[in-house]
Amino acid sequence: MLVVLVADTAALDREAARIVAHRVREKPAITLGLAAGSTPLGMYRELVRLHREEGLDLSGVTTFSLDEYLGVAPSHPRSFHRFMREALFDHVNIPPARIHVPDGTASGDLEAYCAEYERQIARAGGIDLQVLGIGRDGHVGFNEPTSSLASRTRIKTLTLATIEDNRRVFAEGERVPECAITMGIGTILEAREILLLGAGPAKREAVARAVEGPVTASVTASALQLHPQVTVLLDREAAAGLRHLDYYERVMRTTATLTPGRAARPSG
Ligand code: GLP
Repeated sequence: MLVVLVADTAALDREAARIVAHRVREKPAITLGLAAGSTPLGMYRELVRLHREEGLDLSGVTTFSLDEYLGVAPSHPRSFHRFMREALFDHVNIPPARIHVPDGTASGDLEAYCAEYERQIARAGGIDLQVLGIGRDGHVGFNEPTSSLASRTRIKTLTLATIEDNRRVFAEGERVPECAITMGIGTILEAREILLLGAGPAKREAVARAVEGPVTASVTASALQLHPQVTVLLDREAAAGLRHLDYYERVMRTTATLTPGRAARPSG
């Protein structure tokens, strides 16, 4: 894991967008895995700015969203579908036919629906770069504690803590979804590269357990330790619980010296 520390969320937004934009320029036909949530929102804003002001061309990009609330229609104001459109898709030139978001209103054989989502990812050549946030309990996607570390796209029941976290975005009195469709940890680990974003004090413990704790299904983000190409990009507040901060700072300095001006490539 390459742990990259930045001062604040503004710097996190810029650095995350810089890494994604760099990969898009390296491989214009890249396949991105994208997360919803408040953490990557500023990164999407910055990518839109890079597209509008600096000519970042996303016309070759394919995207797969990580998750969606079950029972929530793509048009619902709080769906991850709508979130992604408003945050990114409506403002850049990714061809709509190459945008994939799980359909929260999928009905019938949901297992077959999820298996087809996996096949679509495979047909696109797999995910090159997967962007992730992290839940307060250390989940990625909606892979709640005790999710299999080999899991694939499927329906997950959300924990009460996650339901409470989600409540803030739903209208007062509105039913908050109790289940979601999510890529599995096995799906995520097949991405060629992973960028995990963590911001703010609420993520401090989850980040510490994911990065420095044991690999455990109780903290599904800890499974990223098994992946050879992971960048964990953190603001100071999210990083505050880490024990090896001085080491990560030294690694950052070494990386900058070895590959000046390049987007960092994680190595182990
Ligand atoms: C939800 C999403 C995750 C996201 C997490 C944190 O559980 N399924 O993909 O990373 O929330 O969200 P936020 O970035 O809003 O803190």
